[in-house]
Amino acid sequence: MSSTGCPHLAGYAPLSDEQLTDPFPVWKHAQDTCPVFFAPEFGVWTVTRYEDVVRILEDPETFANGGTLGGHRVPAKYRDEFPDGVWSNSALINRDGEDHKKAKVLAQRAFIPSRVNRMRPAMEVLADELLDPLVERGHGDLMTEFANPFTIGTITRALGLPDADAADIRQVTEDALVILTPGNDDGDPDDGDAGYTTDQLERFDRVVQFNRYLRTVIADKRSAPDEGVISALVHARIDGGQLSDDDVAGMVLEQLIAGNDTAANMIGHAVYYLSRQPELWAAVAGDPALLPRVVEETVRRRSPSKGLFRRATRDVTLGGAEIPAGQLVHVLWAAANTDERQFPDPLSMQLGRENIDTHVGFGRGEHRCLGPLVARLEGVVALGAVFRRLGTVTITEPEPLRYAPALTNVSLMSLQASWG
Ligand code: HEM
Repeated sequence: MSSTGCPHLAGYAPLSDEQLTDPFPVWKHAQDTCPVFFAPEFGVWTVTRYEDVVRILEDPETFANGGTLGGHRVPAKYRDEFPDGVWSNSALINRDGEDHKKAKVLAQRAFIPSRVNRMRPAMEVLADELLDPLVERGHGDLMTEFANPFTIGTITRALGLPDADAADIRQVTEDALVILTPGNDDGDPDDGDAGYTTDQLERFDRVVQFNRYLRTVIADKRSAPDEGVISALVHARIDGGQLSDDDVAGMVLEQLIAGNDTAANMIGHAVYYLSRQPELWAAVAGDPALLPRVVEETVRRRSPSKGLFRRATRDVTLGGAEIPAGQLVHVLWAAANTDERQFPDPLSMQLGRENIDTHVGFGRGEHRCLGPLVARLEGVVALGAVFRRLGTVTITEPEPLRYAPALTNVSLMSLQASWG
């Protein structure tokens, strides 16, 4: 029990339609009254204030990552292929200490600025290809017809996979996200397929098929290197160290799960929030050099990755709560980014914010995002194309906006708009 009368926060229901759409009042209530609280439904301590979130991210010895995203159940027939879950222990997010550091410096080789900048022409072509029919039609869904296929197509090409794989990659990304949502992994651990729904089994089947395909691609790239990210991961060498096939496969699946929906939601929400502040829309339309700040402020205002988990390695007091060793902590950087103690008037988009670069929407510390350069470039290219090709955009999507029921990601289901 804590000194503040927590640990529970009455009314916290993060998967309710209301709080998926507008989590800000309940996050503010928590920050003001009970900044670190226990959410029994998920078995996690939830952390909402900026200073507490930063403290966690900067102290990986007390708040470890290892296995925090694995551990969900996998049907018996696939347990050999995914012994530690779909989000495997080869993924960076599940590794700690030296093991994580070694793997991350190798992975970063695939995302150095010169390599990322070479992705730009393909992104520009793709943005135009997707917008061509929308310009003609005068209206459409900016999530399903633009932002989602844009980030999927970008990552498909960036990985060095054929465009024809984009549909499978979109499906597998969704499958993995659904499998990883709490409550969606409740099959019987010891009894074959029992307890899994047909839908869950089909999702596992597709992820397994994709993983097998990925293994053949990795083997091909070992013998025939190319410009893509998979090849760069396979051939990265530092001090004689290199990534194994398991590492690369785990990391590629991780990049799909971490990088598609997040970047698409950054693009969609930038359009949405700018359209609600017409003076801001006009300023950006007149000065595309503002786009990088739009991207940054959107990642702060509506952080596409809401928050992931850490495990307390010792008893620790945080924000007035006493967290016992071994328990899971949900680190809500999305809440931290709208904490008024750090960002005054946090729900308004302000491109001139002085501390804009202190947001934690791409994380901080050792597990900081691997892909911010890619994500920022995607944002600038996609939004630049929207301004250039669509002109003034009017959002016609009915309010309240609808989001997929995810604890860790913001996932807007559609964003209807018109233009011209
Ligand atoms: C707007 C888009 C994106 C946002 C908001 C975002 C956000 C984040 C955040 C908050 C973390 C930290 C997780 C933690 O500390 O537990 C993270 C990690 C990560 N992100 Fe991103 N991300 C984005 C795009 C991407 C892209 C495009 C990629 C693909 C290359 C990517 C790959 C990763 C990976 C591999 C990690 C794990 C890094 C580690 O554990 O060391 N992300 N991301």
